[in-house]
Amino acid sequence: MQKITIIGAGRVGEATAQVLAERDLCRVLVLLDIKEGVAAGAALDIQETAPLFGFDTRVIGGTNASLMVDSDLIVITAGIPRKPDMSRSDVLATNVKITNAILDDVLDYAPHSKLLLVSNPVDILTYYAWKKTGWDRSRVMGQAGVLDSSRMAAFVALETGYSVKNINAMVLGGHGDAMVPMTRFTTISGIPISHFLEQKVIDDIVKRSRFGGAEILALKKTSSAYGAPAAAIAEMVEAITCQRCQILPTVALLDGEYAQKGIAMGVPCVLSGQGIEKVIELPLNNAEKKMFDETIKNIKNDLKRL
Ligand code: 2OP
Repeated sequence: MQKITIIGAGRVGEATAQVLAERDLCRVLVLLDIKEGVAAGAALDIQETAPLFGFDTRVIGGTNASLMVDSDLIVITAGIPRKPDMSRSDVLATNVKITNAILDDVLDYAPHSKLLLVSNPVDILTYYAWKKTGWDRSRVMGQAGVLDSSRMAAFVALETGYSVKNINAMVLGGHGDAMVPMTRFTTISGIPISHFLEQKVIDDIVKRSRFGGAEILALKKTSSAYGAPAAAIAEMVEAITCQRCQILPTVALLDGEYAQKGIAMGVPCVLSGQGIEKVIELPLNNAEKKMFDETIKNIKNDLKRL
């Protein structure tokens, strides 16, 4: 891939730029922010790590939207973060306005790119971006489940003491308190976690995963998480840039899958060079169906506010 642009040089945007550069995933990496000097400074700081990490990516930062011209992939992290005691939905109105202005620039300068939405509420903003651009759903996606699954896998590793290398967790649904940790599909070396952990411990892991973002925000108070979000974004970007055909939980527009249309939420998708190459529909049991119904209800309520 030649060129990736990250819009928003806040903590998540800057941390993501560092990880993408370190992995040498593109020739040119652009970091954009409306605040004078912020993106330019961050980009220069990252560029100066190149000799130490040994990457050849050129990192450019600035305020001018035209810097994104002809990007292959655009990652949108811009938006106001939530404060402690706020839900991700509480920042909807402001972040829709910010995303709307960004999408105007994207349509002008990078109409052939793919979009990866990160700002919250990510399910709603992904839907909004798809609707506004009119692009094929394969080119418009959001990051949530890779982060939530990584949190869940980390908690499983902490509880069992086993290596994260063999732990595969799966969190689907909306990126809110009603997200759906799929314990049935969460395994250690292919063995379901129920073989190793008591139901009460699994229930606690489910709860902690659902509130993983809030737990960090409550501890740090003035900042949401950014290390794990950046790593999660990089995982998706790498699946696309390296054409891996990797199955990752992705916020995708549904077109009949899970009996839904015109709604974006986290489902397993095949990510590769085209973006979303396939949405995978899993057969749900009754308990999972109930949790899906709840998360879908919440997303639909937020969609009504657009
Ligand atoms: C998180 O879960 C901020 O949504 C982000 O950490």
